[in-house]
Amino acid sequence: MNNLGLSVRVAGRTVEATDICSFELVEVNGRALPAFSAGSHIDVQAADGVVRQYSLCNDPKETHRYLIAVLKDANTRGGSKAMHEQVKVGDVLSISTPKNHFPLAHEAKRSLLLAGGIGVTPILCMAERLAVAGADFEMHYCTRSPDRMAFRQRIAAAPYAPRVQLHFDDGDAAQKLDITALLRAPQPGVHLYVCGPKGFMDAVLSTARAQGWPEAQLHYEFFGAEVVKSADDASFEVKLASSGKVVVVPKDKTVVQALAAAGVEVQTSCEQGVCGTCLTRVLEGVPDHKDMYLTPEEQAANDQFTPCCSRSKTPVLVLDL
Ligand code: FES
Repeated sequence: MNNLGLSVRVAGRTVEATDICSFELVEVNGRALPAFSAGSHIDVQAADGVVRQYSLCNDPKETHRYLIAVLKDANTRGGSKAMHEQVKVGDVLSISTPKNHFPLAHEAKRSLLLAGGIGVTPILCMAERLAVAGADFEMHYCTRSPDRMAFRQRIAAAPYAPRVQLHFDDGDAAQKLDITALLRAPQPGVHLYVCGPKGFMDAVLSTARAQGWPEAQLHYEFFGAEVVKSADDASFEVKLASSGKVVVVPKDKTVVQALAAAGVEVQTSCEQGVCGTCLTRVLEGVPDHKDMYLTPEEQAANDQFTPCCSRSKTPVLVLDL
């Protein structure tokens, strides 16, 4: 197993909803864990060679534990299945220290928090933080059905419960989230946060952009999704600026895989274009972006890309490696 930096013991596991289990992690020797801010995630070694990112969903004030929740995904690539089927109370797991790619904008006058399914994990943490800070916010939490809604009791018992609206796909039309109405009028100082399955996030973000929300007021974190392969994916070359070395990236290999075969390691984590760990500067050429990490503006600048999944539109990409 890799050592991701911290060893934790599974102190508890709880079925939170259909196919969702939470895991309470404590430091192996009972010491305080590194502090984290709302929106943070940790890398977890879910099984041999399988590292996955999970958002922390406990109160950021707590230092005695981290709480994560894992959806057993039918399309899993191994991480969620291992967590659900193999990880037991008492097991020791290797995890990273918390990282935050989805922080709250502290200058926000008001925050709109939108969670779809398991995407509630960072959003819940944000709601708790905003409530403690006395900030103005509204949270919407959508799931397919009530039995798939994790943390419902926790939300109902929270002081901020009146700020939360629950929506179910299988419920009556009146309670469904009307994204267009909710996002109709972007206001200065109002920030939107969204986390959930890709379809949900695409619907929210495309509606917000169509209604004129400035990119700086949109905050989102995608969960791992299959990287879209296209019939046009072709072979190309990457050139390393430091050495001039040229590496061919075959049609069926990622840039990271081709570089590794040539003895050049690029640090990765999600390998799905969601975490940004592998972000690499592009000095020449035009990347074919397939990630969900960079904003549309950052992608359009074409001066960086995620080599774990993105490819090239030009025959050669010169990388700052
Ligand atoms: S490893 Fe996560 S974006 Fe590339």
